[in-house]
Amino acid sequence: MTEKVHILNHPLIQHKLSIMRDKNTGTKEFRELLDEISMLMVYEVTRDLPTEEVEVETPLALMKTRMLTGMPIGVVPILRAGLGMVDGIMQLIPNAKVGHIGLYRDPDSLQPVEYYCKLPADSEQRLLVVLDPMLATGGSASAAITFIKQRGSTNIKLVNLIAAPEGIERIQRDHPDVDIYVAAMDERLNEHGYILPGLGDAGDRLYGTK
Ligand code: PRP
Ligand code: URA
Repeated sequence: MTEKVHILNHPLIQHKLSIMRDKNTGTKEFRELLDEISMLMVYEVTRDLPTEEVEVETPLALMKTRMLTGMPIGVVPILRAGLGMVDGIMQLIPNAKVGHIGLYRDPDSLQPVEYYCKLPADSEQRLLVVLDPMLATGGSASAAITFIKQRGSTNIKLVNLIAAPEGIERIQRDHPDVDIYVAAMDERLNEHGYILPGLGDAGDRLYGTK
């Protein structure tokens, strides 16, 4: 593990994630909690955004203060489950553009299969924040980052709710330049490639498809 891996175990995040993990938590609450945690994670993901000095006149005095330089940002959810993180992020970065990458993991080979990719036209000039709640083998996120790089982007961050050590290793091997932000690092994968203890199938729990 390097300084490229950021574990955001703030008490509010831990609390909300514990409710999400509970198998008795229903779809509506699961979706709301993912939204809230994503919003909380933005705080750290954007910590190194550039700012510039500006002058502001308060009711009492003129002052020098700092504002964002307006670095363009794109958020790129990996379909389907990554979609559940978009709204929370966009509440704090409302001007971000949204790209989509459609990937599913073949249940037998565990290899990612691409079915859709549409990124902002100027994505190579943006900080691209790739979203997916689960980083299991890391195959899906690694493939998504490769697609993005093939389209010219060099400034990429990956945001996951739960990661397995295997997934972190994979991203660090394939994309050592990418910062990874996770709310929790779990123990391992089971024989079907699911994260233990994890929260089950994120897409199914978000959309009620199982
Ligand atoms: C899940 C999850 C990740 C991927 C993680 O998606 O949302 O995209 O698996 O596994 P990996 O790290 O081993 O690649 P899934 O393929 O179930 O698709 P879905 O989001 O459409 O349900
Ligand atoms: N995808 C999920 O949704 N959950 C896991 O634990 C692994 C992959």
